[in-house]
Amino acid sequence: MGEPPQTPDLLETLAAGVAHEVRNPLNSVQINLSILEQELSELVPDPRAHVFVVLAKIAGEIKRLDDFISEFLRFARPPKLNVERLPVRGLLTDLAAFMTPECAHKGVALELDLVGPETAWVDGFQLKQAILNLVLNALQATPAGGRVVVRTSGDGRSLKVSVSDTGEGMTPETREKALMPFFTTKEEGTGLGLPLVRHVAEQHGGSVEIASTPGGGTTVTLTLPAPGGP
Ligand SMILES: Nc1ncnc2c1ncn2[C@@H]1O[C@H](COP(=O)(O)OP(=O)(O)OP(=O)(O)O)[C@@H](O)[C@H]1O
Ligand SMILES: [Mg+2]
Repeated sequence: MGEPPQTPDLLETLAAGVAHEVRNPLNSVQINLSILEQELSELVPDPRAHVFVVLAKIAGEIKRLDDFISEFLRFARPPKLNVERLPVRGLLTDLAAFMTPECAHKGVALELDLVGPETAWVDGFQLKQAILNLVLNALQATPAGGRVVVRTSGDGRSLKVSVSDTGEGMTPETREKALMPFFTTKEEGTGLGLPLVRHVAEQHGGSVEIASTPGGGTTVTLTLPAPGGP
């Protein structure tokens, strides 16, 4: 099986252009802001003065913009698909171990139910990114005392990985739009998490499905074909 040709598409070119045009002035603003801060600290000796609160606010907003551009680029320029036979159970167990402290901090239990194939042909980096996004979404939607479960199932012809939570669930309108780039209901969200998950699934020739009811939790399932490989 040959590699698909990797020509930059229109979105990728536009994204790189926009990121470049925004990042350069942003860097300059950042540098000038720290010069301003330095000079002001000589004029205003009290570090709690209101002017420093204002400066910190501006710096915070600049960082937000910079983070947004980074996430935007990650979405628009995902790395080339690199499929290998990987121990998916081990991969998900490691990921859960990495996420457990953050879940525990919020009082949410993170559980694994891995009955799917031991190994599968997947891009480990991309699969981890996708599941990480799903666990983060689940955690953000689930109040203390709730549960998040990462499951695998499947046979020789498909691997299913799902992330379920006992959280707030989605309205039908939200579920409808959830996979669209930049759709978010969160104040600090960028709305690129689920589109990335869909992209990862489609790169593998698979798909994503969302089952959710308001107040009844959410399950997002990735179905990836051919875990047995070529
Ligand atoms: N597990 C979930 N439970 C409830 N709603 C969810 C869940 N996952 C996603 N959503 C809804 O779908 C929207 C889009 O999710 P997505 O991950 O794409 O973006 P986001 O989480 O808002 O921002 P970010 O880019 O930081 O991930 C969310 O804003 C939320 O309304
Ligand atoms: Mg998200």
